[in-house]
Amino acid sequence: MTTRYSTNRDLLTFDDLSAAEIHRLFRRAALLKQARREGRNDPTLKGRTLGMIFEKPSTRTRVSFETGMFELGGQALFLSSQEIQLGRGEELSDSARVLSRYVDIIMVRTFAHQKVQTMAEYASVPVINGLSDDFHPCQVLADLLTFEEHRGPIAGKKVAWIGDGNNMANSWIQGAAKLGFDLVLACPAGYEPHAELLAHCQREAITGSGSIRVVRAPADAASDADLICTDTWTSMGQEAEQQRRQVAFADYCVDAALMRLAKPEALFMHCLPAHRGEEVTAEVLDGPQSVIWDEAENRLHIQKAILEWLMGVDI
Ligand code: CP
Ligand code: NVA
Repeated sequence: MTTRYSTNRDLLTFDDLSAAEIHRLFRRAALLKQARREGRNDPTLKGRTLGMIFEKPSTRTRVSFETGMFELGGQALFLSSQEIQLGRGEELSDSARVLSRYVDIIMVRTFAHQKVQTMAEYASVPVINGLSDDFHPCQVLADLLTFEEHRGPIAGKKVAWIGDGNNMANSWIQGAAKLGFDLVLACPAGYEPHAELLAHCQREAITGSGSIRVVRAPADAASDADLICTDTWTSMGQEAEQQRRQVAFADYCVDAALMRLAKPEALFMHCLPAHRGEEVTAEVLDGPQSVIWDEAENRLHIQKAILEWLMGVDI
């Protein structure tokens, strides 16, 4: 096993990964998961530091990245934007260049996706998108890994997305184009995913033998699905729209009746945090088809694989 300084690659969206690289990350994550269960954690990132900038709250992303770096022999710095000069108006481009002189890799959770891109443009170390308003690639990689652990290759399967055409939906759309599965998103009027991204990925999906469709009725998406996914109706930063969204999404709750339209062996996923009785009933979220705790755990394993990949660990 050898370690180079870093790859000069970033993970901002699925555009930064080929299908072969995604499968390589899955294989490495599975090995890291097994090794951890056996009490073996190879210190492949010994002496390395991850800087984590958070402009939004987090439980899973923060703890999984922090624990992951520790287990790989490195350390992680939690940098709340409110407690660093970024929060007082220091330019992002300056922060990126300064941090690059101290840390080996940067993770950023922020609002406008442009900010993640600016960070990557000015940082001289790899940058990971830990969620922006438009994309959440680490979560969808963990979800895809979780599906394949339970059900084998996702290529050719039908995935239903119920609810908001948000950052998670956009990353699922990119995932479908990359890995060739059929994704049907049921979204209320006015809450569809980004039209340009959708059109681009629909074209890309055809060459990879997947498909992506947006429908109105949750039943049309759920019917015969292998996996049903949903997410909060009100994402971070949209709190002022909460009441309007509760009305718009009232018919988009994943309940037992909707799950019955899917295949009997269908799984249910939610990136969490969840709101029982809104986007999903407690019966489904806590039921036998739900794999939400595996998804949360797999954040740790896939991100360790991502960190090694971006740091040029040759495995
Ligand atoms: N799913 C997810 O990203 O959770 P956090 O907001 O807790 O990091
Ligand atoms: N769509 C949600 C995901 C949270 C992990 C949000 O952006 O708040």
